[in-house]
Amino acid sequence: MNLLTFCYLISSITFIIGLKLLSGPATARRGNLIAAAGMLLAILGTVFLYQDERGTRLGNYGWIFGGIFIGAVIGTLAAKKVKMTAMPEMVSMFNGMGGLCAALISIVEFDYLGELHHTIRDTYYGSTALPAFTGHLVIILLGLIIGSVSFSGSVVAWGKLNGTIKDRSFKGQHIVNLLVLLVILLASVFLVVRFDASASWIFYGVLALALVYGLLFVLPIGGADMPVVISLLNSFTGVAAACGGFLYNNKVMLTGGILVGAAGTLLTILMCRAMNRSLLNVLVGSFGGGTAAAAGNKAQGAVKEISLTDAAVVMGYAQKVVIVPGYGLAVAQAQHTCHELEKLLESRGVEVQYAIHPVAGRMPGHMNVLLAEADVPYEKLLEMEQANEVFPHADVVLVLGANDVVNPAAKTDPASPIYGMPVLEVELAKMVIVNKRSMKPGYAGIENELFFSPKTSMLFGDAKKVLQELAAALKNI
Ligand code: TAP
Repeated sequence: MNLLTFCYLISSITFIIGLKLLSGPATARRGNLIAAAGMLLAILGTVFLYQDERGTRLGNYGWIFGGIFIGAVIGTLAAKKVKMTAMPEMVSMFNGMGGLCAALISIVEFDYLGELHHTIRDTYYGSTALPAFTGHLVIILLGLIIGSVSFSGSVVAWGKLNGTIKDRSFKGQHIVNLLVLLVILLASVFLVVRFDASASWIFYGVLALALVYGLLFVLPIGGADMPVVISLLNSFTGVAAACGGFLYNNKVMLTGGILVGAAGTLLTILMCRAMNRSLLNVLVGSFGGGTAAAAGNKAQGAVKEISLTDAAVVMGYAQKVVIVPGYGLAVAQAQHTCHELEKLLESRGVEVQYAIHPVAGRMPGHMNVLLAEADVPYEKLLEMEQANEVFPHADVVLVLGANDVVNPAAKTDPASPIYGMPVLEVELAKMVIVNKRSMKPGYAGIENELFFSPKTSMLFGDAKKVLQELAAALKNI
């Protein structure tokens, strides 16, 4: 085993260890650092130790380190400046960049393949069919298609997450999506079967169509269903990177790509289960979105409000309180204040638990990360199924900046865009207190009949301010 292979082996091991540690909030930071160190080793190993069959080293150090420097500066500044609530968008954009890199690799390699093809054909064959290229070309096309879809899809996901791009669909979109996919497949097969370097217009046509497909497939996807798409795009980027690993026969790129692809696929399956959607729907595109205005937006009558003191009293004298965190808690950055309130309640003998919906917030595991940041003990977190069994025994459920994940329309209104998505059944508790700033809808853009239920009392205001005031009121009773 030469030194470079050894470096790759170590790097691959660090990726696996990193991924394992990322599965728990307590170890995630360490996992990230370990995997990043492995990536650095793989990059430096490739740059300084790689030699081709003729013993030539990579060279081009100015370009390589210039690129690394610019990328590192942009990445560091973006990561340092980004607000916690804008993290999902940034992750989406970074994911798109990975897809773009994979597509660029395919473009460069296609060009190279074309030159090689010309030389070999002119020298030895004088015919167009050179089967030795087939495998290489298939991988190039796979990297191109998957990488481009992941790039344009992630850019749309970025826009949807930060609110600059709205859900858009048109009549017959399913058919158009399928047709575009079919043309991409047929053109690719044609290119592989009858490869000719002068057919590069077909290659660039496939590139353009793949970019269009990425847009078409993410644009119509309705608010609440975005988690499935985001994890799917993640796995696409992994697979596209693995194609690059195949092309360069680079084991660590292959391992890294496969790990990202596999992790993304598992997450997609989990998200599909969490949303009760089939993957086929996502691939063909357009579910959920576009119907929000048509369904679930009926006026529901008046809501009942509760004062801070009354809310503090009912919670202070309860036996069991379940807190449901949502995106609004992240916006308010109220996780620490929430933990303070939890400790205050517990000091009065109240049992406090948290109910975590798998797609609460804006990224997978968002609420777990948020609460871990505030040192909320992990054993206090209930997964959705457990929480739904606990709610009937809870005296009070405090909903903090959550909306879609507690919307009963998902169970009761077949016309609702979130119909079929499992939700936290908070209405099973004796009383529900909902904190949010206004009556505005959540991410899916639909009304929530929970707010109008006789069991529900609204506690309006910014989550952090309300929690601080609740804690102060609790100390006085
Ligand atoms: P949402 O349904 O988005 O509701 C959040 C609520 O928080 C809003 O209704 C908002 O109402 C309130 N809010 C905002 N800022 C607040 C503040 N400072 N203080 C108090 N309340 C505040 O959130 P959710 O229930 O967590 O559901 C998540 C949604 O995002 C789902 O539809 C999910 O599908 C989607 N999504 C999830 C992901 C992942 S992977 N988790 C990714 C993309 C999309 P006001 O404006 O009235 O305050």
